[in-house]
Amino acid sequence: MENLRKEMEKELENVVDINSYNNFKVLYFGKKGKVSELSSKMGTMDPTLKKEYGMKLNELRTEMTNALENKLAKIKEAELNKKLASEKIDISLPATKVDLGSPSILEKVIEDFEEVFMSMGYDVVDGPEIEEDKYNFELLGLPKGHPARDAQDTFYVKGDELLLRSHTSPVQARTMLAKGGNEPVRIICPGKAYRRDDDDATHSHQFTQIEGLLVDKNIKLSDLKGTVTIICKKLFGEDTITRFRPSYYQFTEPSVEMDISCFNCKGDGCNICKKTGWITIGGAGVVNYDVLRGCGYDPDIWSGFAFGFGAERCAMLKYGINDIRTFYNVDLRETKTFDRKENE
Ligand code: PHE
Repeated sequence: MENLRKEMEKELENVVDINSYNNFKVLYFGKKGKVSELSSKMGTMDPTLKKEYGMKLNELRTEMTNALENKLAKIKEAELNKKLASEKIDISLPATKVDLGSPSILEKVIEDFEEVFMSMGYDVVDGPEIEEDKYNFELLGLPKGHPARDAQDTFYVKGDELLLRSHTSPVQARTMLAKGGNEPVRIICPGKAYRRDDDDATHSHQFTQIEGLLVDKNIKLSDLKGTVTIICKKLFGEDTITRFRPSYYQFTEPSVEMDISCFNCKGDGCNICKKTGWITIGGAGVVNYDVLRGCGYDPDIWSGFAFGFGAERCAMLKYGINDIRTFYNVDLRETKTFDRKENE
């Protein structure tokens, strides 16, 4: 046993890493290790010697185990120090700058619209961007061959039945048909629309509209005016004045063009409003009886109003953006300026 102790003490000096630690453990404490070998000798030993021998062997086992575990702690500490040294951070180095994005201004404006309309009891609904001719035109009073179809230069997907919707108004027809003609409707639908426009500062072949439809009993043009006025005051400032100019759409009668007083010059005339004091933000009107009827609502009982805001236009006005393409060319430097304006 004394020889073994000496051997172990000497061998312990060679334990310098996890490998030598494991080897040591197997060699002495393993099932067939040298310490176990000694303890198996006890089986044939004289009982009077056995007790003392057992105690001594235990002592040796405890002592050596402790010494070995101390070694392990040291090995681990050394390894950690080595790792820390290799991963040392030089705090004098200039930091790598990570450019953070910011919320899209267009999304922000749409969310603002949604919030105000939802507070007035409107649901936000969706519709397909690849649309059938029936919903985009036919049910809205624009049968095939109607000259007003030309004003909405349309992208056709397949034959003349499937197209990229040229406005969000098909959602009006879809919603009324889905409701079945016996209950009021109160929805807005923000979404993309497509027209074969040449892209320039104020036109884009893809743009965003915020469609709205309300159908109930005794709905009049004055209800539309009241609703739109409240919305515009909430979105563009309490001192905003609205103006409704006669216009023409097949699916509304009467139809109007919606203007707001220029928030920049407050009506005096400036570059933003082209010196008129007014800015057009969309089209609207009282839902045409034929449209109501075609979509399952009896016009003797029901009436309604509909509107379509140009979302990019509203965002451009609100944030002083003069090129619609800004919304589609992602440039972090630009979005960051909007973010700053938003927080001012
Ligand atoms: N859909 C029309 C357009 O794109 C706008 C509109 C919507 C007009 C709803 C009246 C009612 O020009």
